[in-house]
Amino acid sequence: MAVLKILVIPGSLRTGSLNAKLAAAVVKELALHDVDVTLISLGDYPLPIYDGDLEAKSGVPKIAVDLKRMIGLHHGVFIVTPEYNSSVPPLVKNTIDWVTRVRERNETLGQVFRERAFALGAASDGKFGGIRVLMALRQILALGTGATVIPTQMGLSYADKAFDDMGALKHESDANLLKATVRQLIAVSQQMM
Ligand SMILES: Cc1cc2nc3c(=O)[nH]c(=O)nc-3n(C[C@H](O)[C@H](O)[C@H](O)COP(=O)(O)O)c2cc1C
Repeated sequence: MAVLKILVIPGSLRTGSLNAKLAAAVVKELALHDVDVTLISLGDYPLPIYDGDLEAKSGVPKIAVDLKRMIGLHHGVFIVTPEYNSSVPPLVKNTIDWVTRVRERNETLGQVFRERAFALGAASDGKFGGIRVLMALRQILALGTGATVIPTQMGLSYADKAFDDMGALKHESDANLLKATVRQLIAVSQQMM
């Protein structure tokens, strides 16, 4: 059987991002399994705000095609996103919107989302651990794109105090939730291979 490939996407570009820290912890956890892991930055996939006129005039930007292909090279995807005003940050939503507009050769729109498993994580310095962005992003991916989004999700509260100096999760409950989320993503991605 081919080696399972998982793509990890942090949804923040901020220096010192708590979600980038959580994404790094996700990568470390995945690396304990027999999995090829790729961590990307959306900073390497800069996209304009979606505009139907722009798409009609110039087509879907090549960067969105590149990102769709990058997703297509993996069996599973772990998105780790901040919560902005109880929902999904524009960076994450805009990126998803553009990628759903990519259609290559015999593909249907959004096929790349429907053929793989997604896990969701969120880090917030507040007490709710990004629960609202996790629900909002689940709706976008599951209802909007038809993706398989695994039920277990990694919400991290008080994320500014949750990591030790090595970037590991300090609290056993957080570490266990991360383990469970990663295990389920691997299991569901394997079923969909
Ligand atoms: C525009 C904006 C809206 C925010 N809204 C929320 C929110 O609704 N819930 C929440 O828990 N944190 C909210 N925050 C705080 C972010 O969770 C916090 O800044 C977090 O560190 C951002 O993620 P990052 O560290 O990965 O960049 C908001 C921050 C910004 C800039």
